[in-house]
Amino acid sequence: MNVQVCVERSCTIFSDAELYYGHGTDNAWDEAVYLVFTVLGLPFGDDADSRQMIEQRQVSDEEWQRIKALACRRRDERTPMAYLLGEAWFAGLPFHVDERVLVPRSPIAELILQQYQPLLSEPPARVLDLCTGSGCIGIATALAFPQAQVDLADISGDALAVALQNIIRHGLQDRVNTLCSDLFAGVQGPYDLIVSNPPYVSAEEVADLPPEYQREPSLGLLSDEDGLAIPLQILRQAARHLSPGGVLVLELGYTWTLLDQRYPQFPVTWLDFDSGGEGVLAITRDALIRADG
Ligand SMILES: C[S@@+](CC[C@H](N)C(=O)[O-])C[C@H]1O[C@@H](n2cnc3c(N)ncnc32)[C@H](O)[C@@H]1O
Repeated sequence: MNVQVCVERSCTIFSDAELYYGHGTDNAWDEAVYLVFTVLGLPFGDDADSRQMIEQRQVSDEEWQRIKALACRRRDERTPMAYLLGEAWFAGLPFHVDERVLVPRSPIAELILQQYQPLLSEPPARVLDLCTGSGCIGIATALAFPQAQVDLADISGDALAVALQNIIRHGLQDRVNTLCSDLFAGVQGPYDLIVSNPPYVSAEEVADLPPEYQREPSLGLLSDEDGLAIPLQILRQAARHLSPGGVLVLELGYTWTLLDQRYPQFPVTWLDFDSGGEGVLAITRDALIRADG
């Protein structure tokens, strides 16, 4: 069997079921490519060498049986593919993931690839990734700014164990640290950049999410006050942990409209993304202080 046939058969397994895509892919074909290429160790690139490698690769019966078993688990258990494969991609980088952390999918990836332009006037010396989960945002940011010291903070020891695994995977032990902290309680600022994709989903909304999301740790999703409680705490406390000229980048997803309606005193900038996604704000330390006063 060749790779094309293998992807087609996997795609058929997915298409015949009612799956929800929202953890790195948005359709059955891409999900099948993600599965087959990861199991076979094939490159995702579109260059001539990658194409030749893919065209020439033959898939053994044993390999197909492994792929088929994973495809059937994806269909029957509704487990996100990233958990089955133990790997997710974020900002063009691979990360270990399992059910201790959310599957990375933040639109902040695009901002990282643009080195947070035009939000930062110079490369940040110290960065905090608050609510870090797998560490994907902080680690990708550390790789975008080779001089930066980066702290990855989370309240979950389980999540921090995964983040540490990813720090080691990317060889960043000398300048990226994990911190167990309830929001800012255990961090030592000031930071030039605080970036956060915190929980921002209400309990009612979590209950309505497709089964794939129920596989993720609820600690990573749930936030009181219709989802706003944790983002609001971050907005109210961040200024104390930012350096002069420092910037907060905070994701609220679709909860952004509630913040806009209920708390218009925060003069935030909502960012646009070419590759989709919404509800990411940027605000400077000065603007946070003015809003608080
Ligand atoms: C939406 S997940 C984001 C993970 C990661 N930043 C990403 O983009 O994939 C939110 C994370 O916040 C953590 N968390 C929840 N409440 C927290 C708190 N009070 N203080 C620190 N971290 C918290 C969860 O453990 C989870 O890992």
